[in-house]
Amino acid sequence: MKIQFLDAATPSGARLVVRFVNQDAVPADLEPILAEGAKLSRFTGKPGQLFDGFVERGGKTARVVLAGLGGADASDRGAAIERAAAAVLGKFLTSGEEAVAFDLTGSGFTKEEAVATLTGGVLRSWRWDAYRTTLTPEQKPTLTTIDLVGAPEGTEALWAVEQAVAEGVAFTRELVTEPANTIYPESFVERCKARMEGTGLVLRVLDDAEMAELGMGALLGVAQGSVKPARLLVMEWLGGTEGEKPVAFVGKGVTFDTGGISLKQPGGMEDMKWDMGGAGAVAGTMLALARRKAKANVIGLCGLVENMPDGNAQRPGDVVTTMSGQTVEVINTDAEGRLVMCDVLTYAQQTYDPVRIMDLATLTGAIMISLGQEYAGLFSNDDELSADLTAAGLATGDKLWRMPMGPTYDKLIESAIADMKNVGPRFGGSITAAQFLQRFVDKGRPWAHLDIAGMVWADKPGATWGKGATGYGVRLLDRFIRDTAEG
Ligand code: BES
Ligand code: MN
Ligand code: ZN
Repeated sequence: MKIQFLDAATPSGARLVVRFVNQDAVPADLEPILAEGAKLSRFTGKPGQLFDGFVERGGKTARVVLAGLGGADASDRGAAIERAAAAVLGKFLTSGEEAVAFDLTGSGFTKEEAVATLTGGVLRSWRWDAYRTTLTPEQKPTLTTIDLVGAPEGTEALWAVEQAVAEGVAFTRELVTEPANTIYPESFVERCKARMEGTGLVLRVLDDAEMAELGMGALLGVAQGSVKPARLLVMEWLGGTEGEKPVAFVGKGVTFDTGGISLKQPGGMEDMKWDMGGAGAVAGTMLALARRKAKANVIGLCGLVENMPDGNAQRPGDVVTTMSGQTVEVINTDAEGRLVMCDVLTYAQQTYDPVRIMDLATLTGAIMISLGQEYAGLFSNDDELSADLTAAGLATGDKLWRMPMGPTYDKLIESAIADMKNVGPRFGGSITAAQFLQRFVDKGRPWAHLDIAGMVWADKPGATWGKGATGYGVRLLDRFIRDTAEG
């Protein structure tokens, strides 16, 4: 999407012109026919509500869109603006119009609010047509330009920052959307290398031999049933004070999860291409941080494996030794995410000694039973970290809800033969998964686990996304870094 910043005085060439409208405040300077049309269409400016009509302006046909913001006082006005702009792009992306003008003249929008129109518009215009060869002209996107008219001083500079975040979200969506025959551990790494070149990010890659050397028996146990070798991708962004300990983000990157020998049902198994959504969010966040030159030291780590059931696959009952030295009885090979994450958590702590460590994983179906597709589950050993993450979630719309943990849950993963087993009973499945991970977190190290299984993929369009990959996590982690790690 091309973005142009125009003065209020400079008319935009776009036929499609958008006005943002507060609840019950249809602008008085509209052509009477538009005002009447809006009224007859029962347009009142409710959040997300759209009205459009054609009028003649200066001898040319203009297509005017009114986009509702709801109550003007709301503290989440930025979010309402973002949503309204997204609704416009959702509706007109394939309309035949090539440019849209957001007319902010006289709107009183702050620069943050002006930027929110662009964020919403750009995020909602993302799509992935790489595999569609038969789209008709009517089905193809036509909108390529957004003109922002009459935005206040400083909007353009602020957009340079937010654009970086939007780019990170887009990258995450791309990784998540790509099927598992395209994105597997090695190609995930290659895609990141290509996209991150020249950004200042330093990428390090561990192959399976190096991971074996480090003793990552749990991660490699998952990978051993696949012909695709595992990888550990580390992305270092050192934009903060030299020598200051970093924040670490760890992502689950199971590029396809068949369940392994504990094979999943066929129905819906195709969804398991996005079982790398945690790794995707971490990669997108690192790209965003680098693009906006965040003043913080942040390490992103992605544990990349494919969970397949071949003749060399691990069996239920196998005991594996993790990098931490602790042993795990693998009761269910479909509880593979925690087996991958535990070794990456150990590696991250031993290598980087992070001040705070967060992991993101599409870890359990049970979290979708608990929280649906509104909130990701937040599990943590630290109240302050939880509060910071919850606040970042509220600010960005990538929402989190804290879940309980404790020793009585932890007991449920005791094993008769090893230090622990990889599943507990059916009840509380997301919590026992979190308890498992906590066993790999150093005492006293602030840690949070985000179970994002319900958030990575949407079966219907949402605020700023269409059907499919949402890009969940990037805005959350970016905001978290801004508010807690940058001067
Ligand atoms: N990747 C799945 C969790 C998942 C399910 C993510 C649905 C997104 C949508 C994970 O590896 C898994 O299979 N978890 C099992 C754990 C069980 C075997 C204890 C689950 O949730 O059923
Ligand atoms: Mn699984
Ligand atoms: Zn999985």
